[in-house]
Amino acid sequence: MVNYKDLGLVNTREMFKRAVAGGYAIPAFNFNTMEQMQAIVMAAVETKSPVIMQVSKGARNYANATILRYMAEGAVAYAKELGCAHPEIVLHLDHGDSFELCKDCIDMGFSSVMIDGSHLPYEENVALAKKVVEYAHQFDVTVEAELGVLAGVEDEVSAAESHYTKPEEVIDFATRTGCDSLAISIGTSHGAHKFTPEQCTLVNGVLVPPPLAFDILHEIEKKLPGFPIVLHGSSSVPMDEVNTINQYGGKLEAAIGIPEEQLREASKSAVCKINIDSDSRLAMTAAIRKHLAEHPGDFDPRQYLKPARENMKKMYIHKIVNVLGSDGKLAQ
Ligand code: G3H
Ligand code: 13P
Ligand code: ZN
Repeated sequence: MVNYKDLGLVNTREMFKRAVAGGYAIPAFNFNTMEQMQAIVMAAVETKSPVIMQVSKGARNYANATILRYMAEGAVAYAKELGCAHPEIVLHLDHGDSFELCKDCIDMGFSSVMIDGSHLPYEENVALAKKVVEYAHQFDVTVEAELGVLAGVEDEVSAAESHYTKPEEVIDFATRTGCDSLAISIGTSHGAHKFTPEQCTLVNGVLVPPPLAFDILHEIEKKLPGFPIVLHGSSSVPMDEVNTINQYGGKLEAAIGIPEEQLREASKSAVCKINIDSDSRLAMTAAIRKHLAEHPGDFDPRQYLKPARENMKKMYIHKIVNVLGSDGKLAQ
């Protein structure tokens, strides 16, 4: 049993309190490679931002659970080496789908876990989240739960269509589960294809998707004043990265994300954690494709992973500074 405090990690409680009060959101970036981890830490240190590094079940299967845990511990040491005396780094399980998986992560040093029972009947979601909270809180690990279902595929949790969160359920859910934050469904979804072109409006040659359901978000805020709200599926799918990928041999059709202005607006509300994974994948893939197309003789992974890391770092900094507003928000 390892406690996250011994690894130099922090839970989400204090950073969420400050984010809700300050009208900004903490970035939650998924990682499963060393280059992503380095880029996240460099971006957080340069911008003096708290950061959540999150790991999905798929990432654990890909990279190995133990390795990812040591990478998070290494992230804290790396941040200090880069000159940040008091980094605030959370190691978070993304879309935990069972009590056992959450417990396993807590026992090996995660400081925060998500239990995603959003696809379950309401009472089962409550019971599962409550069980995880009871275990996690013994070790001061914070818990994110989810109400409402996002469109598309949630990690290994599938949902054919989106069911917005019902504001009338949130007080009962938060009270009975004791969760520390709540992921809601207001129109975001996972992946690089969040909307079909038919769902969008063409404005100056750009496909603009329908707006997020801010009315539902505001109703939830009224029911749970100051309670930390989480947005999943919040990649913006930048057109320049998609175009680079397609220019250099890729085939990404109709990739459409959440406009950054809407995420900026959400960050000013009780939304205090914004999940971004696909934009990192796009930044990495675009840089690798470009490099290999321009340097067909290169075969040392460092030659193409270096520009990939640079491109991800640039994207993370952009999100922190221009979208979420968490720059300069370290406690000390
Ligand atoms: O929400 C899902 C994240 O993007 C993680 O996806 O299961 O492919 O690692 P993954
Ligand atoms: P994106 O696919 O929009 O990056 O969402 C990531 C996410 O929600 C991880 O939990
Ligand atoms: Zn998610």
